[in-house]
Amino acid sequence: MTSQAVETPSWAYGNSGTRFKVFAQEGVPRTPREKLEDAAQVHRLTGAAPGVALHIPWDRVDDYAALAAHARDLGLRVGTINANVFQDDAYRLGSVCSPDPAARRAALAHLLGACVVVADLNGDAAAQVAGELGGPDRAVAVTVDVTSEEQIGRAFAAALLAFGGVDLVVNNAGISLSKPLLETAAEDWDLQHAIMARGSFLVSRAAARVMLEQGMGGDIAYGAAKADQAHQVRLLAAELGPHGVRVNGVNPDGVVRGSGIFAGGWGARRAAVYGVPEEKLGEYYARRTLLKREVLPEHVANAAFLR
Ligand SMILES: NC(=O)c1ccc[n+]([C@@H]2O[C@H](COP(=O)([O-])OP(=O)(O)OC[C@H]3O[C@@H](n4cnc5c(N)ncnc54)[C@H](O)[C@@H]3O)[C@@H](O)[C@H]2O)c1
Repeated sequence: MTSQAVETPSWAYGNSGTRFKVFAQEGVPRTPREKLEDAAQVHRLTGAAPGVALHIPWDRVDDYAALAAHARDLGLRVGTINANVFQDDAYRLGSVCSPDPAARRAALAHLLGACVVVADLNGDAAAQVAGELGGPDRAVAVTVDVTSEEQIGRAFAAALLAFGGVDLVVNNAGISLSKPLLETAAEDWDLQHAIMARGSFLVSRAAARVMLEQGMGGDIAYGAAKADQAHQVRLLAAELGPHGVRVNGVNPDGVVRGSGIFAGGWGARRAAVYGVPEEKLGEYYARRTLLKREVLPEHVANAAFLR
């Protein structure tokens, strides 16, 4: 052994439960931050609790960097992250070593967050994102044009080959050709609908084929939200609900950061209309949200990935 570290489990703080459940009562830490604060007190008195092992899902927070900084301020460090994969019926024969491939896949997705197929018309950009997400064990890139049934079929085949199944699909491909009515050519209209409405339909149908065969339910999210897609969401949700497949619409608005649509000149034109510098467009849009906060790509991603 070259090194050894002592960590206390976050569930050990408080005397009101077990790692399976915390029973709320006065004085018991309610949040991961409060657990760290209790751990700091224990460490001050004993010198024996310098690290705290967190347990997911109970210690989930929005900002892990801030939680780690809080631990450092208290003279502690966040230690091992324990993923609890023992509580669901599917894990009765184990999780990552279960003889049931569906259980193994569910456990892996739980532990890794998710394995992702980044499918986009722009294959180079997709490859870059897949690399940033951690490479082939975690994310693979597929070049696909969602107007092509054949290419969509190949993309799903690649997903099945890479990760053995598909549990969640986000329809996100989109373009923005916004012109005054009289300048809008029939080809503009056709292209928008071929990608966003027809493309969503084709991708969702391919996803449903896989999900129904898997028999494990699933999720389909529309990121490119427009009126005809909103109606498709209702129809698909009604049809696929009995199979455990949830279909939801995500309506992004004013998501400037990371958006190719905004970066491609659209943002500059909107900024000019509103009379604000382009780099302030996100802040400007924030003013029209209920929370007065800018909507960021991760907020949209969280909406798609909410389990
Ligand atoms: N950003 C916003 O505020 C906002 C608002 C309303 C709707 N949306 C919708 O959200 C989705 C994502 O938008 P974004 O702002 O992140 O834009 P983005 O340009 O960053 O992402 C859209 C992606 O779709 C890809 N794409 C285009 N045509 C394709 C095709 N035929 N096949 C496969 N991929 C294709 C593009 O290469 C691009 O990577 C779009 O559908 C958009 O209409 C965004």
